Amino acid sequence: MAFPPAFLDELTARNPIADVVGQYVNLKRSGSNLFGLCPFHGEKTASFSVSPDKGIYYCFGCHKGGSVINFMMEIEGLSYPDAVRSLAKRAGMEVPEDEQYQSRYRQQERLWALHKEAARFYHSQLYAPGGAEALRYAQERGMPKAILTKFGIGYAPDHWTALVDALRKKGYTEQELRDSGLVTVSRKNGSLFDRFRDRLMFPIIDVRGNVIGFGGRILSNQDKNAAKYLNSPETLIFNKRKNLFALNLAKKSKQGYMILVEGYMDAIALHQFGFDCAVASLGTALTEDGAALLSRYTDQVVLIYDGDTAGQNATRRAIPILEKAGLQVKVLQMRDAKDPDEFLKKYGADRFKILLEESSNRVEYQLGAILKKYDLREDDQKVKYLQETAELICTLGSSVQREVYGGRVAELAKISPEAMKLEVSRAYKRRLAREKKQQEKIDLSPARNLQPKSRSIRYDNMKSAMAEELVLSQALREPALLDQTRDLRPEMFSSQLLGRVFDQMLKRHRQGLEVSVGGLTDLTAEETAHIAGIAQRQEGPVNEQAFQDCIRTIQEEYQASSAKTEDDLMALRNKLKQSKGYQG
Ligand code: CTP
Ligand code: MN
Repeated sequence: MAFPPAFLDELTARNPIADVVGQYVNLKRSGSNLFGLCPFHGEKTASFSVSPDKGIYYCFGCHKGGSVINFMMEIEGLSYPDAVRSLAKRAGMEVPEDEQYQSRYRQQERLWALHKEAARFYHSQLYAPGGAEALRYAQERGMPKAILTKFGIGYAPDHWTALVDALRKKGYTEQELRDSGLVTVSRKNGSLFDRFRDRLMFPIIDVRGNVIGFGGRILSNQDKNAAKYLNSPETLIFNKRKNLFALNLAKKSKQGYMILVEGYMDAIALHQFGFDCAVASLGTALTEDGAALLSRYTDQVVLIYDGDTAGQNATRRAIPILEKAGLQVKVLQMRDAKDPDEFLKKYGADRFKILLEESSNRVEYQLGAILKKYDLREDDQKVKYLQETAELICTLGSSVQREVYGGRVAELAKISPEAMKLEVSRAYKRRLAREKKQQEKIDLSPARNLQPKSRSIRYDNMKSAMAEELVLSQALREPALLDQTRDLRPEMFSSQLLGRVFDQMLKRHRQGLEVSVGGLTDLTAEETAHIAGIAQRQEGPVNEQAFQDCIRTIQEEYQASSAKTEDDLMALRNKLKQSKGYQG
């Protein structure tokens, strides 16, 4: 998948990064950079920078960064080619024909069409004679016809090739059927048969309205061997980690928040009872991608997971993931019913609304979780309860919050608010001491601070790597410096990544192309962000002397590392010293 470099350069030039980012982030100028609140993580002070000159963005907080194309990929959740297409559209440019991409896109379009066809087929089967039992089941579970229509719920017949036959008749090829994930290939003779049989079918629809997969439920809980739900496998168009059930509907909600539940039936029941902002994860725990997707449509989420231990654990895991995506999290503790579906059908929307209104925020939830662990009638347990709650409360930023929650804990434990306040300030001091110790540890090993944030690009030779970073950052600012690097070869770099980048920069410079982070290719998002960080770190004027010193350091370290014996090393050091003497 390659677009011509010249096209990409023009694309970048015609989509100034400050303009593009400015559509999402409120930017304020500070020196040669612009700063704003990072759209990729929650923050209160602006550590997200944009450099119009270098054509890059970089967040000093979460270390995301890259070119205008990377920005579009990240913020819109687009693939590389889709990001390029969207920027091309923005600038009124035509995208050069790319065989591979075109054919992949065509393949996707066929699969979307196939899925739409499958959804129609399943839905019609719900009202066919063979679907009578499924329809009865849906009705027994309290789903009116309007809801069956709204969600396109259907029935996969109890037959080996019902869907396969229907799709073949519509002209879909064997290959397309296999690629759809809706069929299984017989191991015996390679023939195709339906993956979903005798199940109530829930179409999974993405935010653009395409049917991308299905979840299928068995019609009774009798058979303990059959999986209750069966989902589409990962395909060219279906990634269960990156999509959420019912988001296509919930994204239009005017509620200003979203409700996140565990099950298809929960999301459907919520919509049915008027809570049109409900979504569910797709047969997996909530992922970072799922949270990022959600954060594009809201900044507040109410988590409602099942009341059982599994649900509690899932809640605990989901909170930090959502918060990391910049979402404000509230937790609704399910009670008197196993899940929202059951609750709504037992008690109705009004009682659910009450639950929703009292749904607690994260602190209350955590306090509740601590309370559950201890029996406050036992003195020793009460002490532990107070200590643990104090640890939590002392992390709260505002004194009002500390007072409110401290007061609540004190009341439960039947101690005075003053005693609790003392407990909190003790916990605070303990935490400070802990943090100080940690900081000292970090300060004592400066090399650790300089290590790239990502493990995959760690440096083996810190001395050389620092010189390599400086060479790159200076050359990115002043490409003419690349004319003075005749004695520096990419393989001399101790960091394979930095060497690769240097190589690309050199080639572009020689071809008369612009040397910029945006022009780099074949880098992962992490690698691009790392390079953007390097480009953005060094400010101040370009210094040719320092540049040359860095080149020498890289050469020395390279030769030292390739010297085999101590003697070689000594000889080499002497030689380098002499040559330095001549030039210096
Ligand atoms: N799930 C799954 N595979 C299973 C069981 C569950 O993929 N074998 C996923 C489904 O997405 C399901 C969600 O986990 O919607 C929640 O599962 P569970 O709580 O067991 O089901 P409910 O939603 O309560 O389903 P129902 O009310 O139909 O029993
Ligand atoms: Mn349920």
